[in-house]
Amino acid sequence: MNRRVLYIFTGIILLISLGNKPGQSPYAFPGLLFFPKMPIDKSNPVTKEGALLGRYLFYDSSLSSDSSFSCGSCHKQEYAFSDSPNRFSSGRTGEKMLRNTPALYNLAWYPTLFWDGRASSIENQISFPLHAVNEMDIDWTRAINRIKQNSAYNHLFENAFDSHEIDSTKIIKAIGQFVRTLLSYQSKYDSAIIKNAHFTRDEYAGFVIITDQTKGDCMHCHPTDGNSLMTTTRFSNNGLDAIDDLNNYSDKGLGAITGNPKQNGWFKIPSLRNVALTAPYMHDGRFATLEEVMNFYSDSVHNVSNIDPKMELATRHGANLTATEPRQVIAFLNTMTDSAFITNSEFSNPFLPKK
Ligand code: HEC
Ligand code: HEC
Repeated sequence: MNRRVLYIFTGIILLISLGNKPGQSPYAFPGLLFFPKMPIDKSNPVTKEGALLGRYLFYDSSLSSDSSFSCGSCHKQEYAFSDSPNRFSSGRTGEKMLRNTPALYNLAWYPTLFWDGRASSIENQISFPLHAVNEMDIDWTRAINRIKQNSAYNHLFENAFDSHEIDSTKIIKAIGQFVRTLLSYQSKYDSAIIKNAHFTRDEYAGFVIITDQTKGDCMHCHPTDGNSLMTTTRFSNNGLDAIDDLNNYSDKGLGAITGNPKQNGWFKIPSLRNVALTAPYMHDGRFATLEEVMNFYSDSVHNVSNIDPKMELATRHGANLTATEPRQVIAFLNTMTDSAFITNSEFSNPFLPKK
């Protein structure tokens, strides 16, 4: 073999072996129409391998002290990762949690997480349930030992991080990457806005009511037109309670975190996607049905002193909808159910046999 052929030959072998190296491929996010640009966290870029590891960890109950609870115990895919129909999840100790378990999807856009914004990022949020006594109740030393005992994780960590060393940073990053892949963007609404599906007459009427400032006036907080997130991702007091003395909120929400009493009773504005799947509603799950939600927005809004000024119709107790309009709004809200999301096998429990 002459030298030149040898060089080429070794070159090819080298290229092949590099190609086979366990390595990470960037996660291919879908093209999202009418969404604001997805904020990318440069400190935790999502890879296919990282998200896969995160999926295992999300569903692994060995990450709770008595091996009974995983993230997936409270965040269930069939309900868009909420704990519907429970008003409050029962925690590990059997006691009820204090707030309604939110759905998990399209979270990368939120500057802060939780109903009161106390977590500064998706990754920062993950330690809260892991350490909370009534959630998973586990410290890092134990969590890491549990994961180490399961040899199946060796190659998952190796693939995701080029090293089978297991530590808290990697666990957090991997779960964070999985959570970042939970995107909901394939509802009938999404098809209808690109004219691949048609709204029924009632659904379309509901869409108009939501976007009309003189009707539902919902779009200042839940935009549905030109911003498919269906939330501004901000915080707001939408006038649920007749509480004027700012100290009297039993759950102060954002105000307890910022220390600003004017923000007492302000909570994260939830997206309206998948709401048909996530009953009951609001931070405390006070409304069992969307009909109850609509009664509230129509006639029972409390014009309290620190209400969000964007609740423009609060002075007349709400949108004062006619008898048929709430039903039309609900018909529209139902178009935002994303069946592809709740059946996507990439998001399901990998410990269960494939259906
Ligand atoms: C025992 C039930 C339970 C378990 C277990 C649990 N969660 Fe939650 N989760 C909740 C509740 C309740 C909230 C809302 C708490 C609040 O806002 O104060 C929440 C909030 C969240 C949020 C914030 C969503 C938002 O819209 O702001 C994320 C993200 C999340 N959980 C992910 C996880 C992950 C990841 C795990 C596993 C490490 C996990 N959860 C385990 C009940 C649970
Ligand atoms: C000023 C902002 C604002 C406006 C306007 C507004 N909302 Fe809301 N919405 C919120 C906030 C904040 C919450 C959560 C409140 C809480 O839990 O304390 C919420 C919660 C909801 C929920 C419950 C979602 C869940 O997952 O629990 C639905 C449904 C809803 N709004 C629909 C509407 C509709 C329909 C309109 C118009 C008639 C509307 N909203 C107008 C701020 C607003």
